[in-house]
Amino acid sequence: MVTPFEKRILEERQRMRESLESLQARVENFASGDKSKEVLRKTLQYESTGHLDFALFPCPPVIDHGKGATLYDVDGKAYIDLHAGFTVNVLGYAQQEINEAIKAQMDKVIQFAELPMESRAELARLLVENTAGDFEKKVMWAVTGGEAVEIAMKLARWYTGKPLIVTHWGDYHGRTAGAMGLTSKAFMMAYSYPIPPMDTAIVKIPFPYCYRCPFGKEYPSCDLFCADQFEKMFESKETWLNNPKAKVVNVAAILIEPFQSSAGYLIAPLPYLKRMKEIAERYDFLFISDEVQSGMGRTGKLWAIDHAGVAADLITAAKSLANGLPLSVVIGRQEIMDSWGPGAHSSTFTAYPAACAGGVKLFEIFERDHILDHVTEKGAYFLDGLLDLQRRHPSLGHVNGLGLYLSIELVKDRQTKEPAAEATGWALRRLLEEGVICIYSGYYYNRLCIAPPLVIQKEEINRALQILDRVLGEMEKRYEIH
Ligand SMILES: Cc1ncc(COP(=O)(O)O)c(C=O)c1O
Repeated sequence: MVTPFEKRILEERQRMRESLESLQARVENFASGDKSKEVLRKTLQYESTGHLDFALFPCPPVIDHGKGATLYDVDGKAYIDLHAGFTVNVLGYAQQEINEAIKAQMDKVIQFAELPMESRAELARLLVENTAGDFEKKVMWAVTGGEAVEIAMKLARWYTGKPLIVTHWGDYHGRTAGAMGLTSKAFMMAYSYPIPPMDTAIVKIPFPYCYRCPFGKEYPSCDLFCADQFEKMFESKETWLNNPKAKVVNVAAILIEPFQSSAGYLIAPLPYLKRMKEIAERYDFLFISDEVQSGMGRTGKLWAIDHAGVAADLITAAKSLANGLPLSVVIGRQEIMDSWGPGAHSSTFTAYPAACAGGVKLFEIFERDHILDHVTEKGAYFLDGLLDLQRRHPSLGHVNGLGLYLSIELVKDRQTKEPAAEATGWALRRLLEEGVICIYSGYYYNRLCIAPPLVIQKEEINRALQILDRVLGEMEKRYEIH
């Protein structure tokens, strides 16, 4: 006999997944051609349905090769890439100089776990010397973004001797056991049932998502009410954070995404970030900026937090460090980085030499080709184009962007701001059909996020905007958004 508890769990799990048959139907209905179908059928036959591909796209494109900011699938269809593999491919595809640097390192030695090498020492120097902050810095290497976050959490607790990490609703910091506790996605929690995220010393506060302020305020007349609320938590002994009588603060760090990426490319007001740093200084805990997605030049400065004029105690970075090879890092104050001893953290593929060689070349190109200036200029141009679309399309509730980190939020009605989630999913599929790859996200599944390789050209931006214009028009007609 099935108990009510068992019935509920089974029903919940059913709602959380799609059947293999429905994924197969998507392939047959939407794949771009026969070769794509063949690969996708094989994928569904041999790979778990737990991967992200079919969650991101109704039918994922099967990429064969790319050049600059354009990708080609196995059927020869071209796509303007407004995704960059979640910001990994910063300098675009088939970047020969980086590929040569990677190959040269591969020909010398591919990997020897954790031993010092010239390429990693040089990349450490470049990261340290290019990171803001009037203090000595060092780096610690890892492989994935999630692992860099784990190191930052461990290090913050080790250094301060305190347990709590503060983060925001909507933050994404990875899916490893510790980082998952910081990540707010409800579906991830469900996938770990019956064991919840293991790290319980975590406090989540609302993110300044000003278009839909959790406190019902308007920015800037709110005068950062949300930051005041956070600070108020230190006044009482009943919030975990602080024991005012004994003058004991329990917080090791605030670990935040300065701009929330996986939650829809939401740009926090810069004064808010400054206030968070001031509060961290006042109560003596660390400020950690997770730049795994927003960093490495994407916003027009090396790190997103640089826009706020804040020097973080620790920065986590990954994805884009080596234009496609796995590499991650924590950059931080020397006294924190040197507070633990040899072997405190390790992983076999840490500081993968070929990735470090690619990273060194990437820095060289950033400087030589003035990549950050290009990002600022192209980003402003793209943002102007999106604001122009907003004047003509009633579904465009919110537009924000800094550098080539842009997003739009689609609503059924600009007055009520009712999210147009289904329409957004439909638009995403049409964009793919029309040859534009981007992703959708958002607290309400209604934001389209734009993060092309930083070398995208104006002609590609123009073409993407034209296609977006057409697709939004079709979508508004279909979903009766006036
Ligand atoms: C801000 C941020 N932190 C951490 C991670 C986790 O990185 P990884 O997927 O390499 O573990 C991500 C991944 O999207 C991210 O966007």
